[in-house]
Amino acid sequence: MRRLQRLRSKRKNLTSPPPGRNSNIPIVADFARATELAKSAGFDGVEVHAANGYLLNQFLESKTNRRSDCYGGDLENRYRLLGEVVEAAGNAWAPDRVGVRLSPNGSFNDMGSPDYRETFTHAVKRLQAADLAYLHVVDGLAFGFHKLGEPVTLDEVRGLYSGTLIGSCGYTHETAEAAIGRGAADLIAFGRPFINNPDLPARFANGWPLNEEVDMNTWYSSGNGARGYTDFPSYDDLR
Ligand SMILES: Cc1cc2nc3c(=O)[nH]c(=O)nc-3n(C[C@H](O)[C@H](O)[C@H](O)COP(=O)(O)O)c2cc1C
Repeated sequence: MRRLQRLRSKRKNLTSPPPGRNSNIPIVADFARATELAKSAGFDGVEVHAANGYLLNQFLESKTNRRSDCYGGDLENRYRLLGEVVEAAGNAWAPDRVGVRLSPNGSFNDMGSPDYRETFTHAVKRLQAADLAYLHVVDGLAFGFHKLGEPVTLDEVRGLYSGTLIGSCGYTHETAEAAIGRGAADLIAFGRPFINNPDLPARFANGWPLNEEVDMNTWYSSGNGARGYTDFPSYDDLR
């Protein structure tokens, strides 16, 4: 019973600190620790995932962030947790070993807030000052679009962010080259085409056709051994 009361009072402290005071949100230290572990494991850097409806995205968006403390309310308060995480990860390694991922257009995990443009404009401007390795914006609509207005484009983000910028979601070789060519992004990330094309960079570089798209039920299908993991043929396998 006492344990329950202690837990309840801890929870109360966590969600309702006095206005204007930082509530030492424990997850910030977890991000720092994870960054240290990634460094010691030999990674090149870490990407702080503030996209697709996961925790940091939920703090950013007015739809999900109902806090009345210094982590909720106006744009800066909603950005605060992400800012603390980025700083902690940067201190644990170095700012230029830390990337951040945002999804201003996404509806995945029930995201999408009426003030999405202001929210993400603010976040991008704040991240500009963080000297990150890169900013990764899921600008494409292929994983769901909230349809609350015009999508935030890579070109728009480019106007706010002068560091290394990555775009992603639904790109083809052609649209990726076009985005990089017009200066809207420095890099484009690929997900699905990599799953069924293990040699994707070589296919792009040589103009080889891609494997036919496969039903997503065959991706990483559990209980089927290599099926959906390692059995997609390379272009050489097909020749
Ligand atoms: C099988 C699969 C699982 C994914 N799981 C996640 C996930 O857990 N969290 C997430 O934020 N994105 C997830 N994604 C999205 C990818 O991180 C990436 O943004 C997306 O695939 C890029 O777009 P593209 O596949 O059109 O190139 C997943 C994608 C695929 C194909």
